[in-house]
Amino acid sequence: MSLSTHVLHLLGSSGVAYFLAKSIRDPLTRPNTLAGFQLAESGAVPMLETLSARAKAEGDTWLAEKLTKHAADENRHGQIFAHALKQLNKQVIDFKNQPKKPEKTTKERQRSPFFDAFFEGYTSEQLKPDVIDWNVFIASTYILELDASKDFARMAKVLPEDEQTSRNLKKSLLSIANDETGHAAYLYEALKRRMSAADADKLIADWRTRKVNAMFAMIGGLLKPDNKQPTLVQEGVPPEMLEEQANSDLAVA
Ligand SMILES: [Fe+2]
Ligand SMILES: [Fe+2]
Repeated sequence: MSLSTHVLHLLGSSGVAYFLAKSIRDPLTRPNTLAGFQLAESGAVPMLETLSARAKAEGDTWLAEKLTKHAADENRHGQIFAHALKQLNKQVIDFKNQPKKPEKTTKERQRSPFFDAFFEGYTSEQLKPDVIDWNVFIASTYILELDASKDFARMAKVLPEDEQTSRNLKKSLLSIANDETGHAAYLYEALKRRMSAADADKLIADWRTRKVNAMFAMIGGLLKPDNKQPTLVQEGVPPEMLEEQANSDLAVA
């Protein structure tokens, strides 16, 4: 990583860390933040499962097994966030029952500013799990996992310890951070199984630069005066979770 990318990385990370810490600490924005994480973590599962099946079909059983475990971890992370929302008597909104919005044009249907910048030069088609270039998937995900582990650990740090639900969430975030570190580690190993350490580091530096640009694109969006975070939560506990033992605690699962 060049020095300027490094400085920008630190600046961008502290901006994102500030935003995330503020939104998880504030009881008003916490539910929406948790819902965003639930959707992101659970949303990664189908892609990882497809990639695992593809790796297996291509004869890479080592990678296939890592990806299967990765998918199971992200699934569990989604459940942890769902559980944290349940403790606040909230749940992710039921998108199926939302009033239909008018069809968006192709231009409007663009990906988020973050993903547009991160994957600049790649079409959505090229990023599908059955065709994505393995090096692109591994290096880009390595950067995201590595940063996620630090973000979750930072968020855990700012949560107050004076009350039970916040204490549980803190524990959960630390266990998630730990898993994300493990994901980054196997992805780095996967890259090194495919190329020399020098080439792996060069590729990672390229994705670090992309991440820096993407973070600034995202922060730019967040700071726009007309920026409104979509509402992702609604009141109540999903019926399938009502059965759960009141004292079941996914925090230490
Ligand atoms: Fe995760
Ligand atoms: Fe992860």
